[in-house]
Amino acid sequence: MTSSLQRQYLQLIGVDVWLDRNTPPLADEAAPLAKAPTGDQLPSRDVEVWRTLRKQVSVCTQCDLHRGRKQTVFGTGDQQADWMVIGEAPGAEEDRQGEPFVGRAGQLLNAMLLAIGLERQQVFIANILKCRPPNNRDPRPEEVAFCEAYLKKQIHLIQPKIILTVGRIAAQNLLKVETAIGRMRGQRYRYPGSDIPVVVTYHPAYLLRSPKEKRKSWQDLQLAMRVYREM
Ligand code: URA
Repeated sequence: MTSSLQRQYLQLIGVDVWLDRNTPPLADEAAPLAKAPTGDQLPSRDVEVWRTLRKQVSVCTQCDLHRGRKQTVFGTGDQQADWMVIGEAPGAEEDRQGEPFVGRAGQLLNAMLLAIGLERQQVFIANILKCRPPNNRDPRPEEVAFCEAYLKKQIHLIQPKIILTVGRIAAQNLLKVETAIGRMRGQRYRYPGSDIPVVVTYHPAYLLRSPKEKRKSWQDLQLAMRVYREM
């Protein structure tokens, strides 16, 4: 993606402020940020594993959240992606459509990804929970614990080169820490038990409420780009 296009996306999400003279240039803008889609088919064994996993999730009744859902929200995107984005849980619109990040926060997430040269279809987007908590309350520990195996399996199958978590809930639950998100930003973590790097940023829904924080989120995205390119 050309830098001018990238800048247009940055402006779209309100980043003219992000590009002040203290902001480093978009590092190595010409270098692709993710492998080009190869069009390679998944090995048939993996196709079967994904199909089974999707089916298991769709009929899951391990916690009470299944009672209130319209449908499960499995995750979407390239099953061979270099980048995984992990959020918290489906909201009302995601529950209706069966796809993560399709509401206003999703639109901002798409723009954030485009700002670093990534189309939504190039990444895999999933959540800590596959079902919508009522009234968008925080996930409960037992819900996270029941759902964890599904996300773990997705990460294991995709083997992403980098994971970007959005929001406190995703970061704390994925990394098994209780650190405040403001203190996790700017650090490089590893997905527990693996070498997969994890970078933490704010949730796009929070950024919609607090647009001034977009500047920090842009720094996080730049860190993620650097970490990815070092891999
Ligand atoms: N917020 C999330 O964390 N995930 C979604 O899928 C939608 C909104």
